[in-house]
Amino acid sequence: MPNPRIISALALLSTIVAVVVIDYHRGEPVRPVKPIGTPQTIATPLGLPPVPVPADNPVTVETIALGKRLYFDTSLSIDKSVSCATCHDPGHGFAYPGDVSTGVGGKKGTRNAPTIINAAYYTTQFWDGRENTLEKQAEGPVQNPVEMAHSLAGVVARLTNDPSYVTAFERAYAGPVTFDKVEKSLAAYERRVVAGDSPFDRWYFGGDQHAVDKSVKRGYEVFRRVDKGNCASCHAIAEHTALFTDNEFHNIGVGVRNGAPTDLGRYEVTHTDRDRGAFKTPSLRNIAETAPYMHDGSLDTLLQVIDFYEAGGNANPWLDSKIGMLHLTRREKADLVAFLNSLSGEVPSEALPDEILSKH
Ligand code: HEC
Ligand code: HEC
Repeated sequence: MPNPRIISALALLSTIVAVVVIDYHRGEPVRPVKPIGTPQTIATPLGLPPVPVPADNPVTVETIALGKRLYFDTSLSIDKSVSCATCHDPGHGFAYPGDVSTGVGGKKGTRNAPTIINAAYYTTQFWDGRENTLEKQAEGPVQNPVEMAHSLAGVVARLTNDPSYVTAFERAYAGPVTFDKVEKSLAAYERRVVAGDSPFDRWYFGGDQHAVDKSVKRGYEVFRRVDKGNCASCHAIAEHTALFTDNEFHNIGVGVRNGAPTDLGRYEVTHTDRDRGAFKTPSLRNIAETAPYMHDGSLDTLLQVIDFYEAGGNANPWLDSKIGMLHLTRREKADLVAFLNSLSGEVPSEALPDEILSKH
């Protein structure tokens, strides 16, 4: 039998080699880049676990400020028309009001832009989980031809032409502008865009009986009970926190035409048959702010979502076994909507753009 310690040592070694090789291929220094500024602790809102922070990207005052500037800067897109905030709009719960998002030149994508609120907690990013970290996620939209249509090198060159950016990168990390630093900064900012302490949290975790009304409390029962909505079997609630996601992928029958999914979802990542038409279980926090719903933005209201579940989704061979006809009364449906409406919390004010702050 091979010694398990040797096996894990070999696994670690190969990971290190892989990371170095990847960095080398991207033409960036092999030495890992780490923020050098003032460390900042991120407060944990009621109802949420501590924000996960990777060891190579500790959050600092400087990286958050730089990430915020980049997030709202249209110069990340090729024709300077689109920023991250265009599709993940702070005025719309950091999501997009249209069914599918619109990038440079009015080009339409195929999926709905989800909120970035609490995205820091997902173990995978995107509807199909094709990236594992917020850092790597940022490379997607910058290069996507129907989103920002730029290149990583193009973004670096443009930022390097702006002396105020050069100074900001120097202060945050030392050394020149690199895309590695761009994505680390964006991720640091996104780790600030968390929201808990909702009326639900104050009642359920905080014990404040007056934080929500009776309808919300009944709606919670419908949400949880296996013989009612059975929603919490995927939109999970833990003992002291609730992310409202199991971080898994399920086919619930959205986007099905003629008995088959039109978007293969998770299958495109794993090429495993059972993943056909499966998408990541989205968190339901701040859900009242982020209509329309589902990966294709096909449902406009929370009541429509509930009617969709009640009908048992759209039949197709890959439909999740947890999805089936529900038998909810009109009052139970209204209570479920009230419950979903109680899940909205506030993003810290320093994460909001100035024009929204001045309206408060
Ligand atoms: C043109 C619109 C558009 C722009 C611009 C855009 N995004 Fe997105 N974003 C989307 C869409 C659509 C998805 C979902 C795509 C998918 O899952 O395949 C997404 C997904 C994400 C996710 C994953 C969230 C989750 O629930 O898994 C994050 C995080 C994110 N974007 C951050 C950013 C950042 C940071 C920028 C700027 C660098 C950016 N986006 C620019 C449309 C956009
Ligand atoms: C089998 C797991 C599962 C169960 C059970 C389940 N959901 Fe979902 N839910 C998902 C997945 C996966 C999606 C995304 C599906 C897609 O877009 O294709 C989703 C999407 C949603 C959305 C839209 C979120 C957004 O950001 O667009 C809402 C709202 C929602 N579910 C509420 C509920 C409610 C209420 C129940 C109970 C009646 C429920 N879910 C039961 C897995 C589940």
